[in-house]
Amino acid sequence: MSSASLLRAAPDVIAAAARRVMARCEELARVSADAASIERVYLSPEHARVNRLAAEWMRELGMRTWQDAAGNQVGRIGDPAAPALMLGSHLDTVLDAGRYDGIAGVLMALEVVRLLRVPAGDGEPGVDGWTVRLPFAIEVVAFSDEEGTRFGKALLGSSAVAGTWNDAWWDLTDADGVSLRRAFLEFGLDPARIGEAARRPDELVGYLEAHIEQGPELDRAGEPLAVVSSIASARRFQLVVEGEARHAGGTPYDMRRDALLGASEAALAVERICSAEHHIVGTVGRFEAFPGAVNVIPGEVQFSLDLRGEFDGERDRVWDALARELDEIMGRRALRWRSREVHSAPAVFCAPLLREVVAGGIRATLPPRSDAPPVIFSRAGHDGMALGAVTDVGMLFLRNPDGVSHHPDESVSAGDVAHGIRALAEAVLLRGTERI
Ligand code: GLV
Ligand code: MN
Ligand code: MN
Repeated sequence: MSSASLLRAAPDVIAAAARRVMARCEELARVSADAASIERVYLSPEHARVNRLAAEWMRELGMRTWQDAAGNQVGRIGDPAAPALMLGSHLDTVLDAGRYDGIAGVLMALEVVRLLRVPAGDGEPGVDGWTVRLPFAIEVVAFSDEEGTRFGKALLGSSAVAGTWNDAWWDLTDADGVSLRRAFLEFGLDPARIGEAARRPDELVGYLEAHIEQGPELDRAGEPLAVVSSIASARRFQLVVEGEARHAGGTPYDMRRDALLGASEAALAVERICSAEHHIVGTVGRFEAFPGAVNVIPGEVQFSLDLRGEFDGERDRVWDALARELDEIMGRRALRWRSREVHSAPAVFCAPLLREVVAGGIRATLPPRSDAPPVIFSRAGHDGMALGAVTDVGMLFLRNPDGVSHHPDESVSAGDVAHGIRALAEAVLLRGTERI
């Protein structure tokens, strides 16, 4: 595939686009449930506010906009009858989040539209007189729930778009006991209409997403951009260990059934078993003891487990090994344990054609090189994991200094964002040269 630039845009135009992305990341960071940190979860007032901002920015570009039945904000430009190439990422965050995870990808997609749009001719379909001269329309989607912060189940927004919504999810609850169903109603969405968010394969040409790497590989290699080969498979569990809450002073060791100690051993077993396997990572991110008093032996512990791997089979074997280990630990300590799986997503492999156009976009953007641009497997989850069920998926990674993410220190440079915008725009143009 050619590495020649297809984009007619001066470097200062792209630099200005990158500055706008950085400024808007700051602006969105201020839309938070917590004054001292960034926290924006699914179906919250902050979710509604960022959707309104994104819709405004989409309309400024001449896009037709709507909020879909799952609360995803969508903008579309181009022939209304053509299938769409979807670009985007998510606007929801983890707790105490950074500014760029997901957000940068949505804003970069809007800059790609700005670079590619052209005035529509007389009588040509378009809103406010703008269109794209491509064999497909472009849709930008700001997904509403990629992280799963509020209900534990990730990818709710993109699963709705992929048509893989599961009605069992309606009964998931948040930390305050609010069900997903009730949260929909409170947000002004109708659970009965969730199916309307689903897209058909023939409506889409593919899905392309730019995202910060969320790991150190590009930073270590001194490379600004990479092609993503696949997105890790993931499973998430909520685990409960039950023992007996008794007096901290009066209960001798031979009578204690301390749930915290059993759960702590379990957390260490997660590290031991996962780290012995290539490419498997397991994280206990939430850990809560009950009744949670200084002078009471913990009678119950609830904790989360997030498990990821490059391949589904390896990931599942590790879970089976962990379950056997938990049986052993809890048996030895006279405790009981149970688990509930709240999220499961298979590994998704990026489509060969979209890998090629992303590589072509990188080649057209960066100085010539004799070797191919870097190719990385993503250990982090992305909306493409859900969208892979309905369309081809491709991803572009941006260097993430020190690999810090899901943390307020998360960063990306304006220079790399400029490279990323250009590479994504070139990739879209390259996709447009292919037959659909
Ligand atoms: C999302 O960022 C995830 O990988 O959990
Ligand atoms: Mn994230
Ligand atoms: Mn993300």
